[in-house]
Amino acid sequence: MGVWALLVAAGTGERLGEERPKAFVRLGELPLLAESLRRLEESGWIDSIVVAAPSGWEEPTILLAEELSAAKVVAAVTGGATRAESVRAALSEVPDAAAVALVHDAARPLLTEELIERVLTPLSEGWDGVVPGLGIPDTVKRVRDDAIVETVDRSELVAVQTPQAFLTAVLRRAYAGDLSGATDCSALVEAAGGRVKVVRGDPRLMKVTTTADLELVASWL
Ligand code: C5P
Repeated sequence: MGVWALLVAAGTGERLGEERPKAFVRLGELPLLAESLRRLEESGWIDSIVVAAPSGWEEPTILLAEELSAAKVVAAVTGGATRAESVRAALSEVPDAAAVALVHDAARPLLTEELIERVLTPLSEGWDGVVPGLGIPDTVKRVRDDAIVETVDRSELVAVQTPQAFLTAVLRRAYAGDLSGATDCSALVEAAGGRVKVVRGDPRLMKVTTTADLELVASWL
């Protein structure tokens, strides 16, 4: 019952320029979604999986899970108009007895067992949530109407990734309210007063957005 993975895969992926949704664009022989699904299935940390699928792609998602013998998949729910709404739809399938919810973007295929462990461990040390983050190598500017307003101190900045892990009760409370403007789960948990820890992320866990990203990830498989 312990750890439920919510795999959000309902994005359109318009920037890839393909007809099918991003989760079903090919990465090697299989849809992009297959890579993270297989890795969650094989993880020793994950007990059950809920996939938020693009509308109309629920059945292909279940068929893919069957093809991969991914027996941990308990449901493929219809995703929402935004990522946050897709997370909320998947969360509705998670029972209260599940202590931990781990939310992952299907658009980040190269999930590792080490990173899953890294985001889960601090939850037993009093944190409400844990997210992977990477420092920002470039200098960062705040810009308005093409003019630089300020140079931001990057030493305090991280770019966050998924998987993001939370105590299920905390995540549920955070998702009970207004979801507008939330681009990750942590933002809602932070806004609800939750304590969220950042751990070291993984450069290979990049989010596939363009065809070039897809080619790069394929070269790392
Ligand atoms: O759009 P973006 O690249 O930020 O999406 C991150 C993840 O959220 C992707 O895995 C995508 O499939 C998922 N998503 C979703 N429902 C949406 C939009 C995005 O499940 N409406």
